[in-house]
Amino acid sequence: MGKIGILGTGVVGSTIGIKLIELGYEVKMGSRIPKNEKALAWAKSLGEKASVGTFESAASFGSIIFNCTKGEAALDVLKSLSTASIENKVLIDISNPLDFSKGMPPSLYPSLSNTNSLGEEIQKALPHTKIVKTLNIVSAGTMVNPGNIQGEPSMFICGNDGAAKSETVKLLTQFGWKDIIDLGDITAARGIEMLLPVWIRTMQLMGNGNFAFKVLR
Ligand SMILES: NC(=O)c1ccc[n+]([C@@H]2O[C@H](COP(=O)([O-])OP(=O)(O)OC[C@H]3O[C@@H](n4cnc5c(N)ncnc54)[C@H](OP(=O)(O)O)[C@@H]3O)[C@@H](O)[C@H]2O)c1
Repeated sequence: MGKIGILGTGVVGSTIGIKLIELGYEVKMGSRIPKNEKALAWAKSLGEKASVGTFESAASFGSIIFNCTKGEAALDVLKSLSTASIENKVLIDISNPLDFSKGMPPSLYPSLSNTNSLGEEIQKALPHTKIVKTLNIVSAGTMVNPGNIQGEPSMFICGNDGAAKSETVKLLTQFGWKDIIDLGDITAARGIEMLLPVWIRTMQLMGNGNFAFKVLR
């Protein structure tokens, strides 16, 4: 089994990390500081396959990297990484360009929606890294357990590199996803990220995040 770096100590990073360790991967969780308390507690509960470090050391550690940082910080975090830590690697981007500054519900940053997206900006900022956008349209628990939703939900994926998408599909399949829809190059991140306003309104209506989108044929 391989090594995976997770950038982010929130519920998404910790949930994905737990699942990857269950699957047999070694995982390093990265944060702004080397000994983030949440990350240390997360690793302690998981044993020797889990470790913690900075964003840079987690990226260096992984042959695949998950970006689970806050949307407004994602570009700064990723731009701060050394080329050596990310070059030619697959980076699975789960972040959403949500602006919470005016309260709930958040909006998408205008400069990162409609004719642009966070996924595209990340790909532009990291031209030698293979960005794949996916999983950002479900709650953290559903990302690694789609079976908790009745009726086989769909998951979108996009990115410029076919081999990177195939590697990502393998991981998604290990997470339990069966209906994975490749929408094409990274510009498809516009549509995938623009599902968030619908997702958030639905979550507010239902009172929880235990739902997902399904494409019916
Ligand atoms: N929560 C969900 O169920 C869900 C579902 C779908 C998609 N997403 C997306 O997944 C991403 C992670 O969400 P989350 O809820 O797990 O965590 P989050 O609270 O959105 O982000 C946590 C991570 O962002 C980093 N961060 C925050 N502000 C920063 C700053 N100013 N500079 C550098 N780093 C900063 C934190 O660093 P430290 O570790 O140093 O504190 C932490 O690692 C988000 O982009 C979110 O939109 C979340």
